[in-house]
Parts: sequence; C-alpha cells; structure tokens
Amino acid sequence: MSPYLLTRTLPEDATDAALRADVLHGLTRSPKSLPPKWFYDARGSELFEEITALDEYYPTRAEREILLARAPEIAKATGARTLVELGSGSSEKTRHLLDALPLLRGYVPVDVSESALTGAADSLLAERPDLQVHALIADFTKDMELPAMPGPLLIAFLGGTIGNLLPGERAEFLAAVRTLLAPGDALLLGTDLVKEESVLVRAYDDASGVTAAFNKNVLAVVDRELGADFDPADFDHVARWDSEQQWIEMRLRARRALTVKVPELDLVVTFDEGEEMRTEVSAKFTQDRVRTELAGAGMELTHWWTDEAGRFALSLATAV
Ligand code: AVJ
Repeated sequence: MSPYLLTRTLPEDATDAALRADVLHGLTRSPKSLPPKWFYDARGSELFEEITALDEYYPTRAEREILLARAPEIAKATGARTLVELGSGSSEKTRHLLDALPLLRGYVPVDVSESALTGAADSLLAERPDLQVHALIADFTKDMELPAMPGPLLIAFLGGTIGNLLPGERAEFLAAVRTLLAPGDALLLGTDLVKEESVLVRAYDDASGVTAAFNKNVLAVVDRELGADFDPADFDHVARWDSEQQWIEMRLRARRALTVKVPELDLVVTFDEGEEMRTEVSAKFTQDRVRTELAGAGMELTHWWTDEAGRFALSLATAV
C-alpha cells in the first residue's frame, strides 16, 4: 500500500486557542453566541451521523442522490486529476465522486481533525493503492496553501456546510477558494435550498430530539475543555427560520436565570431566564444567490444540479 503525506498548517495548539477565543468572545457579547464548529468532538460527530439518518434531515440523502446521478457529468465537465475536499471528515460523501472520476490520480482531504484525516486516508488507500493522497490539517476558512498536485483540480465543499458561515465570512471564504483555482480547475459546492418553513424547521428540530442533543453537546465541549459548569438540562433547544436572512438559526434558551463559571477563562457569565444564545446559522440558498455570491468572488456558475425533489443543489463553478 502506498503511504500518504500528511501536512499540518495548523499549529498543534491552534484548536485550543481558537476555542478559548471563541468562547470568551461569544459569552461576553450580547446577544451571546458560540460558533458551530465546536459541536464536533467525538460525541458531536456521532450525533451528527445520527442526524443524517433522521427522516426529517433530508440534506445528506439529497446530496448523495445528486452525487450518484451526476458523478459522470462532473467527471466529464472537469476532467479532474486531483480532488481537493474541504472539511473532508470521514470522506464518506466523496466515495461516489472518487469512484466516478476516471482520470483521478490525487486526493487532498483538508480538515482540522487529524484523526478523521488519517482514518479516511487509510481506508481510501486500502481501496485505491494507486491514489496519491496528501492530507492537509488546516482551517480552510483561513490561510490555505495546497500541495503541488496534478491538475486540473476539483475543489469540493459538500454537505451544505458553507451555510454555517455568516455572509461576510462566506464572501471571504469564496474569495480564498478563488485564489486556489488555476484556469481549468473547478469548484463543486453543495448548498441546501430555500423551501417551506415547516420542512426546514423539522430538519433542525426532529421529533426524537437528536438535534437537540447535538445542539446541547457544545455545552459539554466547553465544560470539558474549559472547566465550565454548564448543565445542558438548564437549556432548551430552539430552531427558527429567519426569513429575512434566509437561514435556520439554532439557539439554546436558558430555562431559568443562572450563572455559569468558566475557570479556564477566569469568566463568570449570567443568563436571564429565557435568554437565547445562538449556536448555529445554516443558510439556505436559491440558484440566483449562489450565482451572485460566486460571481462576487470571481467565479462563474457553469452547472447546477438538484435532487429530484429540488431540495438541495450541487453547483460547479470555474474561475473567471
Ligand atoms: C453539517 C453544517 C451541513 O447545517 O445542516 C445539522 C449541521 N446542524 N443539524 C447543517 C447541522 C443541525 C449541518 N452541516
């Protein structure tokens, strides 16, 4: 089996420093908020996997449907020799794509989680020993430099995760992606689409309470990592559609007035009864919006594919 390269562009302690900065900032501003990237410790990743299997949570299945149906078209349109996957996690979503790209020689999974990267690279190389794999431990929302790999590149950002970025962050992210694209390279972007409010809210507030547990897990992360004494039972899960911003917003609402200590930050914070803390936005898109935001970053939408039911879209874009 061919070995793979692993490059760390993120300092070993960067995650800890970023968590501290985010929690300090988020708990001392008004309204309070915590960024969604801190959901994904081992337990949170497990809960997200459970979410993807829920009847109410359609995005994962819808995207898989599109990937399976369109992989040959994607292969033909891009002629990709290297697939770069941002936020690759277990690389499960990309299997279909990897299998369908006949010219593919290189795979560059990019993630902040080293264990996810090495696990994915190991299992992938067992199936495709010929593949040149260069895993990158990096925060793709920040500085990113890609290793030299055979072109053309296909940069994939799937799952609708771009919806977790606020509009300003999204513009910055797309501009950064644009700098990675040489002529002939392409971006494959997964976006969830605007639809009926009740369908959206149910996807983020399922009957069995898995999403509620996922939402509250961020409190367990802060407790463990920063010694805080959040009690998840003190909070209710809230999922709301913001029609102005066109995003689902997840929040945690304090069931009573309470005080939380965060010893590692020398911080004591109070919550009023009913106070809501934002933990995630998940933006939903229209084709126009995707086209406009890509254009704003110097890219052109060349293909737009949705699932049969029109719930989710994959976009292909090139640099202009
Ligand atoms: C993994 C970011 C795509 O926003 O739908 C699932 C995360 N949050 N249920 C999403 C999530 C609540 C998910 N993404």
